[in-house]
Amino acid sequence: MKQPHHLTDIDDVSPTELREILSLSRAVRDAGRAPSLEGRSLGLLFEKPSTRTRVSFEAGMTQLGGHAIFLSPDDLQLGRGEPIADTARALSGYLDVIAARMTDHDGFLELANHSSVPVINALTDRAHPCQTLADLLTIEDHFGSLEGCKAAWVGDGNNVAQSFVIGAAMAGIEVSVATPPAYGIDAEVIERAHAYGSTPSITDDPIQAVEDADFIYTDVWMSMGDGEQRESKLPAFDGFQVNDSLLSHAPGHVSVMHCLPAVRGEEISSEVLDGEASLVWKQAENRMYAQQGLLTYLLNGTKDVSVGVDQSYQDSLQSIECTGRGPMGSS
Ligand code: CP
Ligand code: NVA
Repeated sequence: MKQPHHLTDIDDVSPTELREILSLSRAVRDAGRAPSLEGRSLGLLFEKPSTRTRVSFEAGMTQLGGHAIFLSPDDLQLGRGEPIADTARALSGYLDVIAARMTDHDGFLELANHSSVPVINALTDRAHPCQTLADLLTIEDHFGSLEGCKAAWVGDGNNVAQSFVIGAAMAGIEVSVATPPAYGIDAEVIERAHAYGSTPSITDDPIQAVEDADFIYTDVWMSMGDGEQRESKLPAFDGFQVNDSLLSHAPGHVSVMHCLPAVRGEEISSEVLDGEASLVWKQAENRMYAQQGLLTYLLNGTKDVSVGVDQSYQDSLQSIECTGRGPMGSS
């Protein structure tokens, strides 16, 4: 079987394709509810809970004129032990594309390997590429460019961090990663970032990481499935909270990102999450546009994108440079 174009992680597209998807996302956003995916069906196979990913895929597909079908394992024969591979073969006969949030990464690979339609990773324990697409869209919206921006990841070296580090490398964003030593991102992920000419700087000192950052990104310290480790894991994150004290070490224009859901008072303070520097609600909203761009790309290619939209988008961009001048004041 010829493998369709799956999105297991963000580097399953080239940097050029990444650009095209971001451009499509903007085109979809600016064009409104154009029915470019009429008659197409998206299956959403989720083994873990989700608010943003599930709803943005469902609403986004509807807005494009297509249909989304939510598939909880308990409603499928998968829940009674039908193999993932057999499920993938059967679903491929009905659906045009699948987005899957599987309990573990190998389960996702099994699904993708046996599917004859594209399978999008809607989060595994190792990667969250849909989140990275929305993050890059948000960063470019806010700063006017991706290249040359400086990011600080502060917290757990988890799935969101790993896809972000690779996506940032593909987009020319410099990344400094501050994690407790035992909870860093995988060496294999750093290697993949190197492939795009990026050398993420690695530290266990959040203050050092944020010193020249245009934005600080964090996520929960306990990801789904980490619950049992809470007592042993939590003490390692002392000093890693993104709060006003940490922001005082960053440039004045620094912005803050979080994929959500957040645990207020744990990895981020409420003051920062709800404060002026926060981009989190824009990130959450952009999940839908980014995934609409991705679905359009996977199902239609770039051929039927409305032309001219990008220019009006460019015209409306705030003229902010990444280093030094931000909307919240100067550094
Ligand atoms: N950020 C994210 O993927 O959120 P959900 O778990 O709500 O989908
Ligand atoms: N790292 C988090 C992200 C949730 C969107 C988790 O895996 O639970």
